[in-house]
Amino acid sequence: MSPAALELRNVSVSYGRKGLALDGVNLTIPKGGVVALLGANGAGKTTMIRAITGLLSLHNGQVTAGSISMDGQAILGLPSHKLVRMGMGQVPEGRLVFKQLSVEENLRVGAAVLPKSTEKERMDAVYELFPRLLERRTQAAGWLSGGEQQMLALGRALVTQPKLLLVDELSLGLAPLIVSAIYQQLKVVGQTLGASILVVEQNARLALDFANTAYVIERGVITLSGTAAEVASSDVVRESYLGASREGSTP
Ligand SMILES: Nc1ncnc2c1ncn2[C@@H]1O[C@H](COP(=O)(O)OP(=O)(O)O)[C@@H](O)[C@H]1O
Ligand SMILES: [Mg+2]
Repeated sequence: MSPAALELRNVSVSYGRKGLALDGVNLTIPKGGVVALLGANGAGKTTMIRAITGLLSLHNGQVTAGSISMDGQAILGLPSHKLVRMGMGQVPEGRLVFKQLSVEENLRVGAAVLPKSTEKERMDAVYELFPRLLERRTQAAGWLSGGEQQMLALGRALVTQPKLLLVDELSLGLAPLIVSAIYQQLKVVGQTLGASILVVEQNARLALDFANTAYVIERGVITLSGTAAEVASSDVVRESYLGASREGSTP
């Protein structure tokens, strides 16, 4: 059996002396799989992404136990730029595009790890995926709409053709129509690149529609996992995340 695209084993994280933000987390992204991580605000979703992408130390956090591997290779402690070269792509929470830079310059930042000779071809591929970005190529990113900025953040990650893509709260603050359009593109990307994808979402319905498997995290602990259909039909998720009311309860 080939190794998983990503594997977290018993991973714990703390920020300074603040107790554990992740406590013994296990999570697997199979090759080519699309996995959703669901959880309320403050549950530890972004912390998990930071642990995977090697960015915890920027936030005064550290992995205190466990192991993380990508494609069977241990990656804990590797710097972000190295992980990007190994095929990891990240779309951070809050998009974080460079607002003063043009759309094209933002994509160039993403392409910085590529050999110069492939840069143009890869950027063209992103423009093909998001024609909107091509139209706005020379505009400062700060002038784009929220949806366009999200496309840009996604494009910046995709320019390296990652084999593992981590997307944190894509839907936050965006109109539903835009969000479903972007998710649609993401699906195409997954299929054409054969990329494995982790989407982190507070919007459970969206994420469960998109993913094959799902995990629920509460206060740093994975409390439920299974196929997207299994997770969607669980009582806890129906009540707490999908807004269904408890059957037989009196109003
Ligand atoms: N830089 C930080 N320093 C201290 N605590 C943090 C930091 N970032 C996040 N936390 C804490 O870790 C927990 C998980 O946060 P986070 O991973 O951002 O949750 P989510 O992304 O699910 O909303 C929260 O209790 C949060 O307050
Ligand atoms: Mg978060």
